[in-house]
Amino acid sequence: MQPASIANDDFIECWNDILVPKWKRFRHLLSGNGKIHSDIALDNFVFQPGEKVLDIGCGFGETCLEIGEIVGPSGEVLGLDCTGEFLDIAEAERVAAGTQNVRYVLGDAQTHPLPEGHFDVVYSRFGVMFFGSVVMALRNAHRASTPDARLCMIVWRTIADNPCWGAAKEVALRHLPPPGEDALTCGPGPFSMADEETTRAMMKAAGWDNVDLFRRLDADICIGTSVEEAIDYQILVGPSGEIIREAAEQGQAKLPVIREELHQRFSAHVRDDGGVWLPSSTWVIVAHKSSATRTGG
Ligand SMILES: C[S@@+](CC[C@H](N)C(=O)[O-])C[C@H]1O[C@@H](n2cnc3c(N)ncnc32)[C@H](O)[C@@H]1O
Repeated sequence: MQPASIANDDFIECWNDILVPKWKRFRHLLSGNGKIHSDIALDNFVFQPGEKVLDIGCGFGETCLEIGEIVGPSGEVLGLDCTGEFLDIAEAERVAAGTQNVRYVLGDAQTHPLPEGHFDVVYSRFGVMFFGSVVMALRNAHRASTPDARLCMIVWRTIADNPCWGAAKEVALRHLPPPGEDALTCGPGPFSMADEETTRAMMKAAGWDNVDLFRRLDADICIGTSVEEAIDYQILVGPSGEIIREAAEQGQAKLPVIREELHQRFSAHVRDDGGVWLPSSTWVIVAHKSSATRTGG
């Protein structure tokens, strides 16, 4: 049997080999929409100057730079991610911004050796849902954090609550089969922490059992600056992108009809600036370690 420590190898390969070019191309949408939700989340969670923060699954590191500003020179941020090319970009942008209190490290959130009892806050925007074992990753972060550390995570709610992803998936599934058991995938997936009860149980198993906040955030997000871009985005990224990719030649053969149906769907959601906006929904989850009562602020 393989040790659990390499449980994410296939997922990590998928991020590094398949998703990097797509994420670079659509970064303005992916990160822009992440920011819509993390800005709302920051009304519910306040970083304090001087805090040491671990950002797991930090991607291009935008949140690390933002948090670095808030915690200031006496604080620090460590961004941890398994995708080298994202971190190369993050590091180049950190240097260009002249930021001194942010660092990045390449590793698997489940197993990467972190300094024990070090971080005051563990943060993740749309990272944790992709880990093979959220419990292992949250335990690793628990071990690495101070006795009264706080945790803040932003995760997607169900796909039914997220037409921004669900609409295109419906169209793709009308023409193609769902991905098979052997599909190359980036992890359990964006909606794997949508169920509140299961997520609370996973947090409890990892030691984060003092949950201060489990709040739904709804916002329209931009899935394309034009209808054409929205179509390109959804045929390459997200659940519909995975269905089309896994269907290989059949997926390519069905592209014209899928594109046509997406065009009809998305045209109904164009705003004055030409962008396509659809509803989305996330949870902001705040917890702390110690038994002292806290409010997440
Ligand atoms: C949806 S992206 C979110 C990126 C960023 N937090 C944001 O909000 O823009 C998920 C990130 O998790 C990273 N990731 C996936 N599995 C991981 C693992 N096991 N350990 C560390 N990072 C992981 C991916 O490389 C990717 O950058």
